[in-house]
Parts: sequence; structure tokens; C-alpha cells
Amino acid sequence: MAKNIELNNGELMPAIGLGTWRADESGVLAQTIKTAVNLGYRHIDCAKIYGNQEEIGKALKEVGVPRKDLYIVSKFYQNKHRPELVAGALDEILDELQLDYLDLLLMHWPYAIKPEIGTITFSSIDIEDVPIMDTWRAMEDLVSTGKVRSIGVSNFNQAVLEKMIPQCRIVPAVNQVEIHPYNQEKELVKFCKKSGIAVTGYCPLGGTKINVMNDNFIKHVAEAHIGTPAQVALSWALARGIAVIPKSTNEIRLKQNLHQVTLTSDEMRMIGKIDKHERKVDPAREYKELEWVFHEDKMECPVI
Ligand code: A2P
Repeated sequence: MAKNIELNNGELMPAIGLGTWRADESGVLAQTIKTAVNLGYRHIDCAKIYGNQEEIGKALKEVGVPRKDLYIVSKFYQNKHRPELVAGALDEILDELQLDYLDLLLMHWPYAIKPEIGTITFSSIDIEDVPIMDTWRAMEDLVSTGKVRSIGVSNFNQAVLEKMIPQCRIVPAVNQVEIHPYNQEKELVKFCKKSGIAVTGYCPLGGTKINVMNDNFIKHVAEAHIGTPAQVALSWALARGIAVIPKSTNEIRLKQNLHQVTLTSDEMRMIGKIDKHERKVDPAREYKELEWVFHEDKMECPVI
């Protein structure tokens, strides 16, 4: 299995990264970052809205691995979509992480909310109409500043990407979406590959809500390989050419998640059959007007 995934601009992204969402109990995250980097993790996945980048930045400084050996990803929040706010959003992220540049900056979601809203929950009237391409063009302008090596998107469906790609000067390098055996995104992954967009799977273990690791078939495959269900889920995604960013604050599990099992083609095919299109993260559960974000059949994307 590839250790790195080559992006459409020639940059190499380590295929296994550390997720940092909801790893924010004070002090625990700093220790987790240090343990992970010492175990060999180089790719760290962050986001402004996770509210923990200062702790991550401090820990990365203390761990003492040269910047060029790390692969740091972050995402700006939906309240910074107005084009005039995008460069400042990157500067804020760099300040928090104490870095001069990011390896990859992602647009966290394909919709905007009003600039004054800085929290993870908001109300429907806070959603605003900023065309995705206006935000994306502002991101394209950041590449020549040297403050970011690659740019990409997150939570983008095929319908939005299809409209976006012909208008891009820089095609997104990455689309980061929820992928685990219960939400396999087969069509989207195929489309991204065909379009030269690498895919990173978030919640690759299903998080705490989706019961992937208790799936009987996943458990059966794990036993056959003298591995764990987590290793099966991660190995399955990696074998599909998808980067993974499992989150753990536990040293044993951090170590375990770096080591794959080699699945047979039959096992890959059988895991392909347990998809339930079951997502942990779906904004349409709270905001009806965002149904198009994932349920593209239900509504025309209004913002390109
Ligand atoms: P913990 O931090 O105690 O290890 P995801 O990355 O899909 O969101 O999943 C994260 C969840 O999975 C966390 O609750 C994490 O708990 C748990 N987890 C991470 N790695 C493993 C593993 N190898 N085996 C079992 N649970 C794991």
C-alpha cells in the first residue's frame, strides 16, 4: 500500500494522517500530537472550527520534527467564504498553528454562513449566498503567496465538483469526505479519481456513532488476519487509494492504526457490499436548506 498519495500538482501527501476533531480535552491533544509524531505520523489534519490549533501548533514546535517533514492540513470555516476574507482566514490558521505555510488548505464545506457566526451551530438565517467559485478563486490566489502548497475542498459532492472543475484555474488537489465501510461513496470516489482529485476519508472508523467496528463481517476479516476491526477498516480505504485520518488519543491504538493488514480481493469485494450510506456528519439533519450538500438528487446546488 502506498505510503504517500501523489496529488495533481506533484506534491506527496502521507496516506495516513492523524484526525484532531473532538480531540480537544485540554492537555490530551498536545500529548497525542507528540506521541503520534514520535510513532511516525507526519500528516496532521486540523481545522479552524475544531478550536484546538493553538495546542497543536505548540505541541508540533515542542516535538522538534523539521517542518519540511510534516504534512499539515487545515480548513477554514464557512464564515470566511466571502473572497475578501479568505487570505485572512489562512493567516489566522497559520498564526494559531505557528507555521509559515500549510501543505494543504481546504474549504471546509461548500456553503457560506455570515462572517459574524463563529460557532459550529448556527441558524438557517445565517446561511448566505457566496458563490463557491468566488471563494475558490480567492483560494487559488493564495498558492502563489507561498503560504499554502496545495488547495482542496471538503464535503463536496459530485454535482458541485462537476460544475466547479471547468471553471477552475487550479483543480482541487483533494476532496476530504466521510468514508468508512458503512459510507463508501463509491461513485464520488470514482469521479474524483477520474478528475485527478485525491480523496481523504474522515471518520474512517465510523467515529463513535457508526458501528463499523462492531460489524460482524469486519470482525471476521480482522480475526482472519490476526488484526483488529480498525485495521481492517483503514486497510480497506487505503487499498482503494484513499487517504485516512483516524483519530485516537490512545498510544496503543495510534500505533495500531499505522499498521495495515493485506486484504484479499474477495474480502475487498465483500466489504464493498456492507455499505449502508450511513453518515455521521450531515448538515441537512439540522438545516433543511443544506440538503443539496449531500442529497444532490433532492435539490439543485444553488451556489456556483
Ligand atoms: P480513542 O481516542 O479512545 O482511541 P474516527 O477517526 O473514525 O472518528 O474514530 C475515532 C474513534 O475511534 C475514537 O473514539 C477513538 O477512540 C476510536 N479509535 C481510534 N483508533 C481505534 C482503534 N484502533 N480501535 C478501536 N477504536 C479506535
